[in-house]
Amino acid sequence: MFCVPRLRAFSGIQPTSNSLHLGNYLGALRQWVRLQDAYDCVYSVVDLHALTVAPDPAALRERVRATAAQFLAAGVDPDKSVLFVQSQVPEHTQLTWLLNCVTGFGEASRMTQFKDKSAKVGDRGVTVGLFDYPVLMAADILVYDAHVVPVGEDQRQHVELSRDLAIRLNKRFGEGTAQVPEAVIVKAAAKIYDLQDPTAKMSKTGQAAGIIELLDDPKTITKRIKSAVTDSGSQITWDPDAKPGVANLLAIYSALTDRAVSQIVSDYQGKLYGHLKSDLAEIVVETLRPFRERTAELLSDPGLLDGILEQGRERARAIASGVYGRIAGRFGLLATR
Ligand code: TYM
Repeated sequence: MFCVPRLRAFSGIQPTSNSLHLGNYLGALRQWVRLQDAYDCVYSVVDLHALTVAPDPAALRERVRATAAQFLAAGVDPDKSVLFVQSQVPEHTQLTWLLNCVTGFGEASRMTQFKDKSAKVGDRGVTVGLFDYPVLMAADILVYDAHVVPVGEDQRQHVELSRDLAIRLNKRFGEGTAQVPEAVIVKAAAKIYDLQDPTAKMSKTGQAAGIIELLDDPKTITKRIKSAVTDSGSQITWDPDAKPGVANLLAIYSALTDRAVSQIVSDYQGKLYGHLKSDLAEIVVETLRPFRERTAELLSDPGLLDGILEQGRERARAIASGVYGRIAGRFGLLATR
């Protein structure tokens, strides 16, 4: 029988807080779960990236496990997908060095996230690690020969860099050196905005009142949605420029119910913002209830979680060591085995 090999997907989330937020879920995690039946998926808790914000070591250890538990609670299935912790597969950092040697300084300096983050911390707080962050991300992707990378809009430029680097390797060392990856960004949920400042993306570093954390209790979720900034007027219409607050609530509503925004808008004709907010609060609470319970269950069984991560580490290494060996060989490095 003729069997077509499946394409591979790779993605990662940083363990930078105890709970992921709704932007991580709608922009990334939910797509990860959906891709599992069609792709060979490799998903990682990218703890090395999290070191760029100098976390407390004990907090980092806890967050790595909490993040992995949330991947599983969202529906990442360890029988279908490889789930592992980035730092446990050394080929990521090994390939980063090789990629550092083909990445232009100017090219890395143009990464907008680096520019934004370094502007916030000021020159003296900027580390080489923060500068090199996108190259490590490119190594994550290329070391699995990933074809697709499911992410939110804010990661588009980083995935573009990994494409450029793969194309460069193929030009320099011959076709087949690296797989050229492509970002998979689902437009409707590509950028979920802060509830208090609907012109900024929802982010772990934003004010608490603007974020919905996946592990928040129902009371907190309801309060945050009910106090979300809406816009002047009272009509519920889809107008992201004039009414970004309402548009954000509609986008979240649509993503969580899989209903078209136009249909939701027509259902709320003649109703007030308050109606939309109460209904949305209930939808978010009920979507996240089983997620929160499952995460707590997983965290109460450390043996199970450790076993899954150990199995993931072995499966990830089996792929990464082969791909790294191939690329390193093209560079002219001697084989290690
Ligand atoms: P991180 O940890 O900041 O975010 C994880 C994922 O969540 C998405 N995301 C959002 N999507 C929609 N709306 C938002 N408000 C929102 N906020 C975050 C991000 O786009 C991302 O997909 N550099 C990556 C982690 C990473 C990675 C990789 C991703 C490291 N190596 C290799 C893909 C492939 C990051 O900072 O994600």
